[in-house]
Amino acid sequence: MPGAASRYPDLHAHSIRDPEGFWRDAARAIDWTSEGERVFDSTLGIYGRWFPGWTTNVCHNAVDRHVAAGRGAQPAIFYDSPVAGAKRSITYAELKGEVSLLAGVLGELGVGKGDRVVIYMPMIPEAMFAMLACARIGAVHSVVFGGFAAAELASRIEDAQPKLVLSASCGIEPSRIVHYKPLLDLALSMAKHKPDACLIFQRPQVEAKLAPGRDHDWATRREAALAAGLRAECVPVDATDPLYILYTSGTTGKPKGVVRDSGGYMVALRWSMEGLYDVRPGEVYWSASDIGWVVGHSYIVYAPLLAGCTTVLYEGKPVGTPDAGAFWRVIEDYKVAVLFTAPTALRAIKKEDPEGRLMGAYDRSSLRTLFLAGERADPDTVEWAKARLGVPVVDHWWQTETGWAIAGNPVGLGALPIRVGSTGVPMPGYQVDILDEGGHPVGPDRMGSIAIKLPLPPGCLPTLWRQDERFRESYLVDYPGYYKTADAGFTDANGQLFIMGRTDDIINVAGHRLSTGGMEEVLAAHADVAECAVIGIHDELKGEVPCGFVVLKAGVARSPAEIEAEIVALVRERIGPVAAFRLAITVNRLPKTRSGKILRGTMKKIADAEPWNMPATIDDPAALDEIALALGARGLAKVTVA
Ligand code: COA
Ligand code: AMP
Repeated sequence: MPGAASRYPDLHAHSIRDPEGFWRDAARAIDWTSEGERVFDSTLGIYGRWFPGWTTNVCHNAVDRHVAAGRGAQPAIFYDSPVAGAKRSITYAELKGEVSLLAGVLGELGVGKGDRVVIYMPMIPEAMFAMLACARIGAVHSVVFGGFAAAELASRIEDAQPKLVLSASCGIEPSRIVHYKPLLDLALSMAKHKPDACLIFQRPQVEAKLAPGRDHDWATRREAALAAGLRAECVPVDATDPLYILYTSGTTGKPKGVVRDSGGYMVALRWSMEGLYDVRPGEVYWSASDIGWVVGHSYIVYAPLLAGCTTVLYEGKPVGTPDAGAFWRVIEDYKVAVLFTAPTALRAIKKEDPEGRLMGAYDRSSLRTLFLAGERADPDTVEWAKARLGVPVVDHWWQTETGWAIAGNPVGLGALPIRVGSTGVPMPGYQVDILDEGGHPVGPDRMGSIAIKLPLPPGCLPTLWRQDERFRESYLVDYPGYYKTADAGFTDANGQLFIMGRTDDIINVAGHRLSTGGMEEVLAAHADVAECAVIGIHDELKGEVPCGFVVLKAGVARSPAEIEAEIVALVRERIGPVAAFRLAITVNRLPKTRSGKILRGTMKKIADAEPWNMPATIDDPAALDEIALALGARGLAKVTVA
């Protein structure tokens, strides 16, 4: 049962009974340039729109208002980069200066309200300046994660049609320097859409070659703007105007452009900082993610700044930069109150420092709560962290589409007793149901598809970028009146949610969301491949890793090992290193049903050594034995086949 002291049950009930009233109250924490009459209008958009007729500016709320309120001297950003050997503290006043300057430069380069700007940058302060500068002038940013290959960047450029691309000369991975500019040049040569200009930040590690006419040097433009006293002010936008587009994996290779609005998003994030994370203005909040992911957008950049906190921008890894004590060192250095990371990061630390010896070397007394999300948190890891850190470890569930947590433990309302393995209870505005195949809600402890009753609360996507139909088809058609999360799970008798896995072909690799369908498209493009199937198999560190099975075309005489190596390289080249695709296995045939459907689910169970039943519709049962043997030959399947 929810804790007696928690305000959660009443508050959640209020948010469902009177959503307009609930969110109108929450909206008081935001500065608006004008307020509309309605908080929600169900006749607008696809399932309704939040705060129609209200106007605001996100950068004002994240930056300027804090300077005006006397927080100018407070650090807004602690940048910490063990890979670059750099640290920088940026106050709210300095942030305002940098962002208004860069926004001025964007204006000079022809960017205005509604124009798209692609940001392809590593975890450096300039990337945050770039996002906020777009918000300042009402431009729509689309940040692309650095671990994607040129082809993925190209498909995003093609879809978003940016006027400008902001990039840097390089990213820094512990094992290598990632040269961004050649990747950007390649992507621009692949994309049909050509931006008017690129603004390139030269990092000291690498000097990128600039294309005359198209590419501009960031520092030079900044200096010139500074000398000219150029400053851009905040432009009011409609609350329903897009703040950004963030591409995420869909069930095909073509990524989905998740649209985020401006007003509802701010209201939801601002609410979450106190209600969910229990942080106050002036405290230090650290989301150890990347700005290329939704967690980075919401909880490195926007939410901490909207709340007047100091955010930590960490360009490093949990291990190897330099060791498994890195997270604890950052907590000590900046007196972090709340840490948010992916379970995979903890697994990486646990593997290197199982006793947590390095934790003891640092003062972690500032840390109150550790939040986890992005993938299933295995109970072992949660218990390990809880025991050694001595703070509550809170798992919470969300998606790129929702922009903030669907379910969690609302620590700020009075924490609930949560069972390990559960991701908590629905956040305000979310009415979560578990549905059977016919779309009917099922009772407690029964597995089903997880769906959210429409309307989605503020902060969630109103649609996909210029693809209303795809939005309907992907999320709204299967269960009328609901948003389909494509996650499966159950609730217990106390209404606590358990997320067990996806119902589609999305896999989660080290907290990164990837489409196996997209990988299959790459495998199928290899000249020697007749058929293929990619599945996600269990991995101790990354949760899941992809594994590709290929059937070669008849008559191919080359060695399978050679072709497999080419396939691995092809996925890295087309999708990127982040896919962590290292396993390609040649088989004679794929197990299928009599109607020709590949039995990926059963293949996964075999690979993960889970119990499985012979599908009644299988064409030839021996085909599954062959998969087990092929996996066994690589030391993967623990099941031996008689
Ligand atoms: N730019 C370029 N390449 C990148 C990159 C980036 N921003 N991020 C990752 N990569 C590359 C890595 O260098 C690696 O390349 P490699 O094959 O040449 O080694 C590959 O992509 C896979 O990277 P990663 O998933 O980070 O695996 P890893 O083995 O290097 O590190 C962990 C493992 C667990 C330490 C790491 O995955 C991690 O920190 N995970 C946390 C995840 C997270 O924060 N997710 C956000 C959701 S909340
Ligand atoms: P992303 O859009 O990258 O945030 O990935 C969203 C997906 O990650 C969800 O649909 C889930 O499958 C998975 N996920 C996110 N958070 C959790 C969690 N706390 N527990 C289990 N799975 C999660």
